Amino acid sequence: MMYKAADNRYDSGMRYERCGHSGVLLPRVSLGFWHNFGSVDPYERSREITHYAFDHGITHFDLANNYGPVYGSAEETMGRLMDDSFRPYRDELFIATKAGYDMWPGPYGNWGSRKYLMASLEQSLRRMHLDYVDLFYSHRYDPETPLEETLQALVDTVRQGKALYVGISRWPLEATRTAYEYLKAHDVPLLIYQGRLNMLDRTPQEEGIMDFCADHGVGFISFSPLAQGLLTDRYLNGVPDDSRMSKGKFLKKEMLTDELLQRLRDYNRQAQDRGETLAEHALRWILEQRGVTSVLVGASSTAQLEKNLRCVSPV
Ligand SMILES: NC(=O)c1ccc[n+]([C@@H]2O[C@H](COP(=O)([O-])OP(=O)(O)OC[C@H]3O[C@@H](n4cnc5c(N)ncnc54)[C@H](OP(=O)(O)O)[C@@H]3O)[C@@H](O)[C@H]2O)c1
Repeated sequence: MMYKAADNRYDSGMRYERCGHSGVLLPRVSLGFWHNFGSVDPYERSREITHYAFDHGITHFDLANNYGPVYGSAEETMGRLMDDSFRPYRDELFIATKAGYDMWPGPYGNWGSRKYLMASLEQSLRRMHLDYVDLFYSHRYDPETPLEETLQALVDTVRQGKALYVGISRWPLEATRTAYEYLKAHDVPLLIYQGRLNMLDRTPQEEGIMDFCADHGVGFISFSPLAQGLLTDRYLNGVPDDSRMSKGKFLKKEMLTDELLQRLRDYNRQAQDRGETLAEHALRWILEQRGVTSVLVGASSTAQLEKNLRCVSPV
């Protein structure tokens, strides 16, 4: 049966924040496709999660060329979702993708060259069954490609009508400054910076990136806001079989030291004292930081998303 979005999707408690000095409002909670949307994952569950998200005001989906596994398959899932569910709602969605990490073999399928970025976006559009993305990112800083080459490629994706806005992810501060100046001079302002900020990792704050963004009207979106699940009740009493850590690729068991577990339990106690879950507490903490536009959560079930969405409800 064709999906029909909930009539009350904009009245269910979601709040929207202006993304830097732009016209774009982003939901305070956005949904990432890094895990749970690949060809290895059941499509029905991916579909259910996205329906739940959109029905609750999550209008921003974040992808990258190589999300899966297999590489490209999260974008293919997005394409299928466009056909099955979201085509009538295209103008209500803000869809992002990225290029910067390894995607295809050979010298042109990685890093920051114009050759890679332009070809990759073309492929992403084909996989997602889209004419344009709302946001195209350089996924990482490339120390060996002239920044101007990467940045001009971003500008040109906008000129070609294949992206409406551009962003950068994981760029160091000085390169971020260069990106900001270059893009401004070429009339394609830097919309947003995507970095890892959570209660366990405050690097973008410590490195001055968040202050730079706030001072210059650039939005900031926090990826892995729950530290891949560590900042939830997932690992407080062991490692569940169906968890990301038990798969062991991106979240390793060695990370869960006694010291970390103690810290998580302390955070959990603080959260409980405030009548919150740990996940809710961790997300609220991020949303209170200066310059944060949105938290970009992952979820392997609608139940997790439901819990995470509590961070936008009034205390
Ligand atoms: N720019 C970059 O380089 C970069 C890097 C990483 C991520 N990202 C983006 O950020 C998005 C989010 O990253 P992430 O998936 O690491 O985010 P996250 O929100 O920190 O972690 C999500 C994972 O935590 C667990 N979880 C979430 N909510 C939970 C809850 N309420 N209770 C218990 N467990 C819960 C689930 O893992 P289980 O599988 O264990 O259930 C879920 O898949 C990605 O999808 C991607 O779009 C970008």
